[in-house]
Amino acid sequence: MLSPHANPRRKVLLVFGTRPEAIKMAPLYLELSKHSGEIDVAVCLTAQHREMLDQVIRFFGIPAHYDLNLMKPGQNLYSLTAAIVEGMKPVLEDFRPDYVFVHGDTTTSMAAALAAFYSGAKVGHVEAGLRTGNKWSPFPEEMNRSLTGRIADIHFAPTQQSRENLLREDIPERHILVTGNTVIDALQHGLSLIERAEPESVQVLSRQLPLHRDIILVTGHRRENFGEGFLNICRALKRIAEQADAEIIYPVHLNPNVQGPVYELLSGIPNVHLIEPQPYESFIWLMNRARLIITDSGGVQEEAPSLGKPVLVMRDTTERPEAVSAGTVILVGTDEERIVSETLNLLYDTERYDRMARLHNPYGDGQATKRIAQFLLTNHKHEYVS
Ligand code: UD1
Ligand code: UDP
Repeated sequence: MLSPHANPRRKVLLVFGTRPEAIKMAPLYLELSKHSGEIDVAVCLTAQHREMLDQVIRFFGIPAHYDLNLMKPGQNLYSLTAAIVEGMKPVLEDFRPDYVFVHGDTTTSMAAALAAFYSGAKVGHVEAGLRTGNKWSPFPEEMNRSLTGRIADIHFAPTQQSRENLLREDIPERHILVTGNTVIDALQHGLSLIERAEPESVQVLSRQLPLHRDIILVTGHRRENFGEGFLNICRALKRIAEQADAEIIYPVHLNPNVQGPVYELLSGIPNVHLIEPQPYESFIWLMNRARLIITDSGGVQEEAPSLGKPVLVMRDTTERPEAVSAGTVILVGTDEERIVSETLNLLYDTERYDRMARLHNPYGDGQATKRIAQFLLTNHKHEYVS
């Protein structure tokens, strides 16, 4: 008979709530479920997002063992944070995880990590260690990620640079594992699924949009860009639409602070197509089809280089300097003039475009989830990494 300590199944609760966390945690769930003899994994959705979260879990086939169903239209940070902490209590008491894994820098990540700490569970932080060093930018994500890092017991850093950021904050070396970013695992999995069969949502898009033309794909949602930043972005897109021989396709984030200015300023322009947020399968299909991408999204700037697509990032600071150094993305801020000139320059300077499109993705090899699973499997014997 096995001694009770010989090979206890590790109970791991994955907690996430927004679209990007779901995309980056989905392949981890799929990988951990392969080891059901050693790992008992469950998913708790805070549903900080609803429709945009459901689009992802449907595509990847992720079950929701717990669903706090918290999203409220136009929600604010105070009530959302409180609701997550409170909502996690019965879940933690019911599942009694050894580990709670959270992802990245959202309010869900920070509040779920805090709740997990209160419960006595160990906290694993996936995509740990990204920093701008400016607590106001991105807001509130820089602080969410730093606080989660302060709570976490094990840090899954996507790159060497993120590992170094953590070491500078006196996180012990043996508590950090460099894994690559799970977004690459998700992208590879997603691409293999859509190669097998063209998704229904892509067929719908193909009927509605002139996809045979050059496409500029746009996304944007950052809080620090609300107000003047978004107005500048919209004015810039309007000028690009007038000057470029291309179609602008813009799946508009459901946040009312985004929907308001975008629909007001960009509706009715013939080559600007404002569409619903896309399910992951049609979004990666669109990225693959696009000539270039203009975004303020973290995840998109990590994915696009794998598809050989240059990215203009509408932010002034970045916690993802690897892509800037690798030359796969250019930071253009929210300056109208700069967005227009860099876009036109990239569209028509083919040599520069080709140089950017050929560069290597610094964010991983698609094996990040395997490395995280390996940590849990070998951690039966060791307390943390070494
Ligand atoms: C959140 C995260 C941000 C992340 C982004 C990804 C925080 C503070 N912000 O920002 O870090 O980059 O998600 O997209 O954690 N809404 C819907 N349906 C949805 C999703 C959102 O209607 O499926 C609307 C609701 O009115 C909601 C609002 O958008 O109240 C804002 O959602 P929220 O999660 O608070 O902020 P995001 O801007 O989405
Ligand atoms: N994405 C998507 N549909 C869309 C727009 C984006 O599936 O209409 C995906 C995209 O591929 C990336 C992620 O959503 O993986 C990025 O999410 P978002 O920009 O909302 O958040 P961020 O990455 O900035 O935190």
